[in-house]
Amino acid sequence: MTTTASQEAFLQAFHAERPAVTAEAFGRGRAPDGRSSYEILCDRVADSGRVLDLGCGDGLLLELLARSDGRRLAGVDLSPESLALARRRPALSGARLEEGRAQALPFPDDSFDACVSHMALMLMAEIEQVAAEVARVLSPRGVLACVVGGGAVGGEAYERFVGLLRSTMQKLPPSRHIPALGDRRTRTREGLDDVLGAAGFAPVEWDTFAIDLSGPVEQVWETVSGLYDLGPLDHTTVERLREDFLTEAAELTTPQGIVPCAFTMHLATARLR
Ligand SMILES: C[S@@+](CC[C@H](N)C(=O)[O-])C[C@H]1O[C@@H](n2cnc3c(N)ncnc32)[C@H](O)[C@@H]1O
Repeated sequence: MTTTASQEAFLQAFHAERPAVTAEAFGRGRAPDGRSSYEILCDRVADSGRVLDLGCGDGLLLELLARSDGRRLAGVDLSPESLALARRRPALSGARLEEGRAQALPFPDDSFDACVSHMALMLMAEIEQVAAEVARVLSPRGVLACVVGGGAVGGEAYERFVGLLRSTMQKLPPSRHIPALGDRRTRTREGLDDVLGAAGFAPVEWDTFAIDLSGPVEQVWETVSGLYDLGPLDHTTVERLREDFLTEAAELTTPQGIVPCAFTMHLATARLR
């Protein structure tokens, strides 16, 4: 199997088990202005009538986009299980939801005014091919807006969890490690400029914000344990990680029973020249 095929096979197998994991983890998160990262992305393309969601998952972002009348919406994803959840959303009955790869989009040239992607572009291999495909299906001056993950905010539960996960992984054989996913250039402004510039996009606009995921400890555990790295771990290892996390989280818990937890995200927007 090629590297790309094994990455995509891993993603498909993971989402077959957890088809709505990202929306469950991040849908309740809030930026300082009170919006979720999905709402921020939706607002960014408020003026676009034909919108494609790349790596649409269970369709949460598409459902928000469908609140504007008269929009033509489409989503593409590798995961049939995630798409099945998207198809169950009544608001998406008119949307075109396709199982497919962002590297070979099943749409004609000039089909969309905007392409959005929430926490998915950063997982995609052969990113130059993805950028070329997005440019092909967008109309002239069309816009790509995507949210990509930054990292854990220091001193809070996400960072503590990542530390515990790292020391757990160091003790495990390579068979328990996930394949390296995506292209790191999608996680920085300069890297994304390289990739998108070559496909005909103007320089990206880049905003960074923290998403607050604080809550009761079990809720925060549900959020952090959605990371792909936990996919290949056996039940005993996950339980041990959970116990260790609960111990660390107890140190952080406020008198009101809230565990502080935050994650940084980047919103990148680029328009075709
Ligand atoms: C982290 S999930 C995000 C799902 C959704 N956008 C959300 O935020 O709720 C990443 C999604 O991207 C999809 N994906 C990853 N690589 C892809 C590719 N090359 N083509 C299409 N979908 C892809 C995965 O199947 C998965 O559903």
